[in-house]
Amino acid sequence: MSITDTHTARRPSGRSGTGGADLAVYAEGLVKSFGAQRAVDGIDLEIRTGGVFGVLGPNGAGKTTTLRMLATLLRIDSGHAEIFGVDVARQPHVIRQLVGVTGQYASVDENLTARENLWLFARLHGIRSARAKKLAVDLLERFGLGDAADKTIAKFSGGMRRRLDLAASLITTPPLIFLDEPTTGLDPHTRGQMWDTIRGLVADGCTVLLTTQYLDEADQLADRIAVIDHGRKVAEGTPEELKAAVGDTSLQLVLVEPEQTGAAGDVIRRVLGLDPILSPERSRLQAPLKQADLAAEVLVALRDAGIRVASVSVDQPSLDEAFLTLTGHPAEPQEHESAEDVATKEGRR
Ligand SMILES: Nc1ncnc2c1ncn2[C@@H]1O[C@H](COP(=O)(O)OP(=O)(O)O)[C@@H](O)[C@H]1O
Ligand SMILES: [Mg+2]
Repeated sequence: MSITDTHTARRPSGRSGTGGADLAVYAEGLVKSFGAQRAVDGIDLEIRTGGVFGVLGPNGAGKTTTLRMLATLLRIDSGHAEIFGVDVARQPHVIRQLVGVTGQYASVDENLTARENLWLFARLHGIRSARAKKLAVDLLERFGLGDAADKTIAKFSGGMRRRLDLAASLITTPPLIFLDEPTTGLDPHTRGQMWDTIRGLVADGCTVLLTTQYLDEADQLADRIAVIDHGRKVAEGTPEELKAAVGDTSLQLVLVEPEQTGAAGDVIRRVLGLDPILSPERSRLQAPLKQADLAAEVLVALRDAGIRVASVSVDQPSLDEAFLTLTGHPAEPQEHESAEDVATKEGRR
C-alpha cells in the first residue's frame, strides 16, 4: 500500500510537470509538529482530479492539520505538497486560488442576511457588485437556501450555516474544495442534505477532499479513502477494499459467564478464521463478519460448545472496529488528553 515507492522516481514540478498536474493533490512525507507532538507524522497523499477523496480518522488523528498545511494555512515542517502541480510552499498565493476552504462562517456577520453575506464575500474577492449579486442568488439557490436568502444568519440552523459556509467558499469557483468534517454534529436529515450538496459539487466537476470520523459517510461519498491515525496513514483504498478488510457486518455477543470468554474466542476463531475483539469487561466479544449469515454458524457452534449467550446483535462495523481491524489497536479518543497521555503515547511509538 506504499505509494512512495512508485513516486520517488518522479517529482512533479509546476503545472506542465511530468504528471503532477493531473493530480489534484500530491503530498509526500508531510510532517507537522506541535511542540513535542507530531500531529502529522509523514503522510503521503495522491488524489486524482474529480470525485471525493475521504480522509477518515478519529478525533485528534491529524486530519485538520493535514488540510491546513495543504491549504497554506499552516507551514509544512517537512515533506512536499502540490495542488494541481503547484508547489504549496513556494506558491501559496496560487494555491489559495485553487482551493476552497470551508470554516469561514465564524467570521460571518450574524446581522446580515444570507444574500448580503455572500454579496459581501464576493465583493471582498474583488468581484463587481452586479456580478456579486447574481452570484449570491445562484449560490443560495444551489444550496437550497433560496427561501432563506433574506433571513439574517442569526436565525440560521447549524445545517444552514454549514451550507452557507460552503456556498461562500465557492464564490471563487475553486476546482478543489476542502471539507473538514462537514457533517459532524448535524442531525441525520441535515446530514443527508449535506451529502446531496457534496454529490452536486462533484457532478459540477469539483474535486472534494473530505475529512470525516464516520465510516458510513466516507463509504457513501468517497471514491477512495485514506485512514489516518496518530498522524500516519494506516490504510488506503476504495470503500469496498476497506470494508472487505473489516467485514461488512459485525457480530456482537455478550456471554452469560465471563469465564467462558476464552472458550468463546476459540470457537469464533475456528468458525470465522479471525480473532474476535474482547471488551475490557471480558464478557463482550465483537467480530467482523464477511456475510451476515455467518452469525448463525457462530451461535450454533457456541451452543454446541456449551457456551451460553446473554445477548447477540449484528451491526454495521463501527469505525472503532475498522480501526482495530486495520491497525490492530483501538482508536483512542484524544480530545481532552493530558500532556502526560501524549508523553506516554510518544514513548510507545
Ligand atoms: N494549534 C495546535 N497546537 C497544538 N496542538 C495542536 C494544534 N492543532 C492540533 N493540535 C494537536 O494535533 C493533533 C491532531 O489534531 P487535528 O489535526 O486537529 O486532528 P483531527 O482534525 O483529526 O481531529 C491533536 O492531538 C491536536 O490536539
Ligand atoms: Mg479536525
